[in-house]
Amino acid sequence: MKIRDFIFPAVLSLLVVLTSCKETNKTSKNDKSETTMKKETLQSGITYSDFEDSVDGQAVALYVLQNKNGVEAAFTNYGQRLISLMVPDRNGKTDDIVLGYPTLEGYKVGHGGYFGSVIGRYGNRIANGAFDLDGKTFNLAKNNNGNHLHGGIKGFESVVWEVDSVSQNFIRFKRTSPDMEEGYPGNLDVVVTYTLTEENELRIEYFATTDKKTHVNLTNHSYFNLKGAGEGNVNDHILQINASSITAVDKGLIPTGELMPVLNTPFDFNTAKTIQAGLDGEHEQLTLGNGFDHNFVLDQNIKNEEGLLIAAKVTEPKSGRVLEVLTSEPGVQIYGGNFFDGKLIGKNNKTYAHRGSICLETQHFPDSPNKDNFPSTVLEPGQEYKSTTIYKFSAQ
Ligand code: BGC
Repeated sequence: MKIRDFIFPAVLSLLVVLTSCKETNKTSKNDKSETTMKKETLQSGITYSDFEDSVDGQAVALYVLQNKNGVEAAFTNYGQRLISLMVPDRNGKTDDIVLGYPTLEGYKVGHGGYFGSVIGRYGNRIANGAFDLDGKTFNLAKNNNGNHLHGGIKGFESVVWEVDSVSQNFIRFKRTSPDMEEGYPGNLDVVVTYTLTEENELRIEYFATTDKKTHVNLTNHSYFNLKGAGEGNVNDHILQINASSITAVDKGLIPTGELMPVLNTPFDFNTAKTIQAGLDGEHEQLTLGNGFDHNFVLDQNIKNEEGLLIAAKVTEPKSGRVLEVLTSEPGVQIYGGNFFDGKLIGKNNKTYAHRGSICLETQHFPDSPNKDNFPSTVLEPGQEYKSTTIYKFSAQ
């Protein structure tokens, strides 16, 4: 046998190996080459490839849930963000009813406006960014006028979540938040599940366990405009909330501890009225909140068959779209988009108006770690944190 009889097959097999390596690389999720990026565009105008990236060395992608009624919910595992939500109006025409950015880039700046994200470890504010647990003071990241807001400088909205399981109507994210992340004690194992039902409900189930005593208060920060994101303000939306009081706040939006009855105030939404009708009222709390930015204390006796509190209902007269909020949480933060100045450009090149959206953040009360008269947010080793919220959509 001559030497070239060895070399030729060896070179050939080397070439085969090299080519197959190239193929493997091509199919890697984070390869931005033309051949691998998913070009497909969703109903909402969002394109898969605009959300395929690597953040902190971890793969980020877009995941889409759909039901038979045309509802389409797109998530990214970067902050578990609900990127777009297509919901039919009374004529069956779908529109994207949550605010957000058209590509992943916008979400990476600052907190990405908390658009559509999970919030943790603690939704809302903790005064002076500190709390005491068993005689020990824990100092948290201060990111809001000397206070702690929505989990700190790099909260759950700005981390990559593992996609534990995904199907056509279901996605489950998980992550361990390490001990002392943003100042919180305990390794916290968090699992969050989103299910899109055929009854047009987006059901969110939060679950967490810890190995050290800590505080937990998880929520979702979707900004809704039932006319469609970027279609003006939401002051014409009709709001109804089953709440007899709010947690009154000071000028830093920290609860004073007082549960203020809403009767005869602009905060009384027990009978449905437009948000504008509320804003037209006069009240010190409206001035302090720069509009509605308050935790409503939900009435404990108005429940569905599953035992969830029937918290709130938002109706948009033009499209006929209705959003109902049900929850196992004792409160809901109504945030009317007061801090938007009308300059932000979001998806589909639309500008988001001042008060162009409403957030209904189901939660334990703000600053509970420092308020003995509020329901406790303590989670101990061996206990399970469980919380459920349903956003249910319909049209009338
Ligand atoms: C708070 C607002 C805050 C906003 C940030 C809301 O949950 O209530 O005060 O400005 O989140 O996006």
